[in-house]
Amino acid sequence: MSKQAPLILILAAGKGTRMKSARPKVLHKVAGRSMLGHAVALAKSVSGARICVVIGPDMEAVREEALRLAPEADVFVQQTQRGTADAVLAARPALEQARGPVVVLYADTPLIKAETLQSLLTQLEKESGICVLGFNAADSTGYGRLLLDEQGRLAAIVEQKDATETELAIDLCNSGVMGFLLPQPISLFERIGNDNVKGEFYLTDAIALARSDGFETSVVVCEEEEVLGVNSRDQLAQAELIWQQRARGNFMAEGVTMIAPETVWLAFDTVVGRDVIIEPNVFFGPGVVVGDNVEIKANCHLEGHDRKSDAGVFVNSGSIIGPFARLRPGTKLGNDVHIGNFVEVKNGVLENGAKANHLSYIGDATVGPGSNIGAGTIFCNYDGFFKYRSELGRDVFIGSNSALVGPLKIGEGAYVAAGSVVTKDVASDALAIERSKQQEHSSWASKFRLMMQRRKARAE
Ligand code: UD1
Ligand code: MG
Repeated sequence: MSKQAPLILILAAGKGTRMKSARPKVLHKVAGRSMLGHAVALAKSVSGARICVVIGPDMEAVREEALRLAPEADVFVQQTQRGTADAVLAARPALEQARGPVVVLYADTPLIKAETLQSLLTQLEKESGICVLGFNAADSTGYGRLLLDEQGRLAAIVEQKDATETELAIDLCNSGVMGFLLPQPISLFERIGNDNVKGEFYLTDAIALARSDGFETSVVVCEEEEVLGVNSRDQLAQAELIWQQRARGNFMAEGVTMIAPETVWLAFDTVVGRDVIIEPNVFFGPGVVVGDNVEIKANCHLEGHDRKSDAGVFVNSGSIIGPFARLRPGTKLGNDVHIGNFVEVKNGVLENGAKANHLSYIGDATVGPGSNIGAGTIFCNYDGFFKYRSELGRDVFIGSNSALVGPLKIGEGAYVAAGSVVTKDVASDALAIERSKQQEHSSWASKFRLMMQRRKARAE
């Protein structure tokens, strides 16, 4: 058979009742991306693949997410959940056009590696027929068991509920990922019946049928960890942990130092440069890019995409973040920027060498190169209705405890005196001071104390 791009079917019609959630199961997230998103990314790792997602009725949110992630994908609806073979047949129009391999993935299995899927496809190219991704289960309860013949070839898959005692003792299980390279896979799927304990149309029955037609059937074995299926919140947390351990290992292998890797949480798209040092308890939400030689001190939260914005967080090389800093969407830090403790940045650009070392909120602002934002400075960017931007030029100095009320422009080299509430633009090189004049009353304190002591004595 000539080499044709695969058709990848992602099954996502399951309700996921055990998640106890109003949200469809496959929209729950691992590493900041929906499980469906992980399956789509896996499918996209196969070049030229046509991607189809099978959803249940009333799953418009799943359709939206699928099309957001892969606008070119086709989404099919399986009206009633009558089993995995029936789900595959919901994509009939795509199957009819398929000339190359057809691969079935589950949308609730977010940890499969691209190279594993590739080895299944390579096996299919070598030997057309059906190839199943299998694994040796520590506890095989609930899984379909892979039955091998005397030559060690895959003979059939038997579901837990239909298995005999001997079959139940088999550890080699079906992950659910199956590849088909057959002249007419659809005719095979159509022949699958539902004469089994659950009365469902099992895709796994395709194996025995293909064998009786004389096609090859084989198994590619992967680590159990890769095919963890998520049915409950507990398994969602397990999948998250496995994903994180893998990602931390990859980052360290690429030259990132983590003092306590088990306390660093990464997102599916986190980018971190070389010789970055990440101290304990740092959380990366989606959309964060960190350059080389950056130091992220303990207890920082960086998040480039949230519900309202996907503007990203970019930290250029040599910058120092934290401890206890929060970088939100739209943060762009130049080279050698310092963001210290309890500083929050949102839609804020700090150019090369700018510093905000203590207790500040920098929202909707540009801070020019070399400028210094004193402790306790607040950019007042919001009046309850609209947001306003402030622009600070190069080498501006903002004294501590200032409030900068946007919209505002502060020129190059200007100073703002500590404690000022600045509402008007400040010219370059000027000093803006907005506070009442200090008064001094000499010897006031001792007179005051004497008066109060007498008053207290009278009262007693
Ligand atoms: C399935 C396999 C089993 C395998 C196990 C791995 C079959 C018959 N059994 O069993 O061999 O060991 O997965 O986890 O295939 N789905 C639909 N429509 C349906 C039914 C299912 O879209 O009508 C989707 C589900 O959303 C899910 C996937 O197919 O993503 C698997 O369905 P599930 O019911 O979990 O199958 P299992 O009984 O776990
Ligand atoms: Mg299942």
